[in-house]
Amino acid sequence: MNKQVILKSRPVGMPEPSTWELVETAIPVAGEGEIVVKNHYISLDPAMRGWMDDRKSYIPPVELNDVMRSGSIGEVVDSKNEQFKVGDFVSGWGGVQQYSLSNGDMYYKVDEKLAPLPTYIGTLGMPGMTAYFGILEVGKIKEGDTVLVSGAAGAVGSVVGQIAKIKGCTVIGIAGGPEKVKYLIDELGFDGAIDYKNEEINAGIKRTCPKGIDVYFDNVGGDILDAALARLRMHARIVICGAISQYNNRTAIQGPKNYLSLLVNRGTMQGMVVMDYAKDYRKAAMEMGMWMMEGKLKTREDVYEGIENFYDTFTRLFSGDKKGKLVLKVLEE
Ligand SMILES: NC(=O)c1ccc[n+]([C@@H]2O[C@H](COP(=O)([O-])OP(=O)(O)OC[C@H]3O[C@@H](n4cnc5c(N)ncnc54)[C@H](OP(=O)(O)O)[C@@H]3O)[C@@H](O)[C@H]2O)c1
Repeated sequence: MNKQVILKSRPVGMPEPSTWELVETAIPVAGEGEIVVKNHYISLDPAMRGWMDDRKSYIPPVELNDVMRSGSIGEVVDSKNEQFKVGDFVSGWGGVQQYSLSNGDMYYKVDEKLAPLPTYIGTLGMPGMTAYFGILEVGKIKEGDTVLVSGAAGAVGSVVGQIAKIKGCTVIGIAGGPEKVKYLIDELGFDGAIDYKNEEINAGIKRTCPKGIDVYFDNVGGDILDAALARLRMHARIVICGAISQYNNRTAIQGPKNYLSLLVNRGTMQGMVVMDYAKDYRKAAMEMGMWMMEGKLKTREDVYEGIENFYDTFTRLFSGDKKGKLVLKVLEE
């Protein structure tokens, strides 16, 4: 049977266990032009929270009673599509289920011998691409820049900071808790870090960025965005990648109070959506793969097991109780 997680209601605030339902259906069979993928891992991403709201966004919302949308990686077990054969490992939008039926459009092959499968939904997948294009194309970093990144110990932020280090920047990360701060400095080579749960954020930025910020990569929004705005240097760039501190708000999203700092400092603040760079993913993955082989780019996935544990695992995105890219193994062996 195929275990699937179905969206049952649209949450207000933080989702609850009853937001989804675990159901079992028959394993699908490929029709003409289709493939069936046995999913090994699914990707848990903060964006999933936004896809549950019935509002205009860069992608339509998940419909009620549909399988919850997610990135995935798995093995083709049935194919009537000439581009894929049984045994191919593929990454795509399989959803929170053990078997996915698709016409193959949203799938691409990966080489399971080159990197562990979870890495293909982490650093070599969507979060890694977000980091790469966000910091290079939107942040336009230059050697010597001071780069501040929030959500720094997470899937996107940890790669942003490491790419900025590779490019010769001074990198400061913001993360929750002493263990994550230690990880950023000792293992990822960040120049400094702020534990926003234990240090007042304005004081932390002043301490770590005494000359101000050239590029702020924002994953969290809210008060941290405001604090970064307050310490911009001339011609600073802010990359609006996400605002996880606001996703479960029951009231309106908190907008930036300090935005006039952009005027004073001739700064820019630009949003980005990773899908806009899809045609260049392959090139980016090759470059990041090289950095990984050279030991310049480290990747960390935190893998939990069991589709039954989807809800508990999903909530770790918001509590921060996870290390690196959050992944759920749905394969039953
Ligand atoms: N624009 C795009 O195309 C795109 C693509 C992918 C991701 N994103 C966005 O990028 C951001 C990071 O995504 P990710 O996949 O890398 O997730 P992640 O950082 O791996 O996980 C989320 C992290 O956010 C932190 N967090 C949670 N609540 C917070 C709060 N109230 N204030 C500050 N930090 C909080 C937690 O870390 P701590 O323990 O440090 O609090 C948690 O580990 C998200 O906003 C996501 O929506 C955007």
